[in-house]
Amino acid sequence: MKANIVLLPGDGIGPEIVDQAVRVLEAVATRFQHSFSFSSHLIGGISIDRSGDPLPQETVDACRASDAILLGAVGGPKWDDPSAKTRPEAGLLKIRKELGLFANLRPIRLFDQLIDSSPLRREIIEGTDILFLRELTGGIYFGESGSGGSGDDESGYQSMIYTAGEVKRIVRLAAKAAQGRDNRLTSVDKANVLEPSRLWRRVAAQVMAEEFPEVQYDVVLVDAMAMHLINRPRDFDVVVTGNMFGDILTDEASMLPGSLGMLPSASLGEGGPGLYEPIHGSAPDIAGQGIANPLATVLAAAMLLRHSLSLTEEADAVETAVEQVLADGLRTADLARGTDSVGTEAMGSAVVQRLGQ
Ligand code: IPM
Ligand code: MG
Repeated sequence: MKANIVLLPGDGIGPEIVDQAVRVLEAVATRFQHSFSFSSHLIGGISIDRSGDPLPQETVDACRASDAILLGAVGGPKWDDPSAKTRPEAGLLKIRKELGLFANLRPIRLFDQLIDSSPLRREIIEGTDILFLRELTGGIYFGESGSGGSGDDESGYQSMIYTAGEVKRIVRLAAKAAQGRDNRLTSVDKANVLEPSRLWRRVAAQVMAEEFPEVQYDVVLVDAMAMHLINRPRDFDVVVTGNMFGDILTDEASMLPGSLGMLPSASLGEGGPGLYEPIHGSAPDIAGQGIANPLATVLAAAMLLRHSLSLTEEADAVETAVEQVLADGLRTADLARGTDSVGTEAMGSAVVQRLGQ
């Protein structure tokens, strides 16, 4: 297979971790005789510095013409000035919107080898396997916003809007994902307070009753969900929710497996290229030190192989290689909890070596 993969390394540790994922994809290409071509483009803070724009049109065009996109991370203190006219994050939101990537898949999967790195007790997390589907191109992230006034009357607002169509398509995708797993779906909202959540709840229930009557379905309020995730994470299979709730709950859930450094995500639309990235951020505090954990990005590359290129065996091989290096005892600093650790490149090399075997 030939595939054209766009790389968006971005800021902070982004370039370091994307480099390792590319080495892994190259190893996959060699072992399975594919031909992957890579081209790197600007996004985020580095793009603001070089072009004044967090997402230049050239990047959007390259992404549209690609088979899949692998992104590192965007943002950092250098671009945090609240009065700046644009921010790195705006580039990420815009690429999601431009490519219609409405479904963000965030699997929360435990690695047996890392269970004791979790801040939670083994008996609570053992057996946890959750797939979050976060709606990614609607809701409060994209609602009308503004600010004005002065003194105590100065105000800012941002509206949360969902349409029935937006709710239907993400709920359908989540229900289909549930059918391929444990056949259970939980929808998370704040219908006791928010009007868009009441619409979400009504439309979701209708889709489930009419199209997926055999999928076990329930609804949970977002504040209660925050609690259940810590208390009984095993009880959930697929979870579907809106943009902001999904952002918050997936950071929370990412602590279950022990490190944010292990979790990949896929953003998919209807046709067109998907975008794959670690769910962690740019970690500016450790950027350039060669100590970042590249495994979330390596696992994002595995999702890319599976979802955008339909290369299931190759994706499995990458995931197995990651499990093996963990079983071999290799840990980056985020996982080592005070014991010996390896750097970003050594971790990448270990995965490449395992893939070659
Ligand atoms: C994420 C991130 C982004 C988001 C930021 C960087 C804009 O937190 O992908 O979860 O809020 O969606
Ligand atoms: Mg987030």
